[in-house]
Amino acid sequence: MRKNIVAGNWKMNNDLPATEALILDLLKQEQTSNAEVMIAPTTVSLFQAFNATKNSNIEVIAQNMHYAESGAYTGEISASMLKSVGVKTVILGHSERRAYFNETDELLAKKVDAALKNNMRIIFCFGEELTDRKAGNQEKIVGSQIKNALFHLEAAAFKHIVLAYEPVWAIGTGETASPKQAQDMHQFIRQTLNTKYGNQVADDMTILYGGSVKPANAKEIFGKPDVDGGLIGGAALKSQDFYAIINAF
Ligand code: PGA
Repeated sequence: MRKNIVAGNWKMNNDLPATEALILDLLKQEQTSNAEVMIAPTTVSLFQAFNATKNSNIEVIAQNMHYAESGAYTGEISASMLKSVGVKTVILGHSERRAYFNETDELLAKKVDAALKNNMRIIFCFGEELTDRKAGNQEKIVGSQIKNALFHLEAAAFKHIVLAYEPVWAIGTGETASPKQAQDMHQFIRQTLNTKYGNQVADDMTILYGGSVKPANAKEIFGKPDVDGGLIGGAALKSQDFYAIINAF
């Protein structure tokens, strides 16, 4: 079933006290929509964040993980480690991971497999750069990012995957894709899934938009038929803005 989801990607912001303070603030907000709510604090705060949100409908998710189960990967975190602190969902393929940590489609395919093997849900991110869009190549780029990292999977695996289209030129820049640009791309993504896996997988897929979503533009973007929610960066760090976006449904 397709769901509405609003996920806050906190990136490398908020130490432990700030994480606890922001969660306290979030818990005071009123939710009037039925969207699923997720927050992705930094790894060192996941355990406390999980405990602090236990009696709420906020799900605490991770920003990244390694593909290996364990071993000599200094500084890395495995799926089972995330699960051991209560985390069941992980963001994979964020453009910042791709750009600054050289995450390729090939590596992401391995991370996807590891997360699924550990029964985790994945928010899989992808999106074109400004030069791609200017050259009219956005569908070609997005299509290949999806195919290269996900199309080795069986149809059943897609029950555990949420897609997040995040045009790189709109992330943290204040520039948003227009609702029409978002809708056109989301429709293309659904069509791409349909061609490979058929109607059911395509119709059931939750596809989030990410890139400078704010209270002021959320309603119009979420109003588009193929946009099922948002992955929110900057605006997720302010409790009132985050809930204004959640309640935009
Ligand atoms: P932004 O970030 O909302 O600050 O543009 C979105 C994201 O990177 O997920």
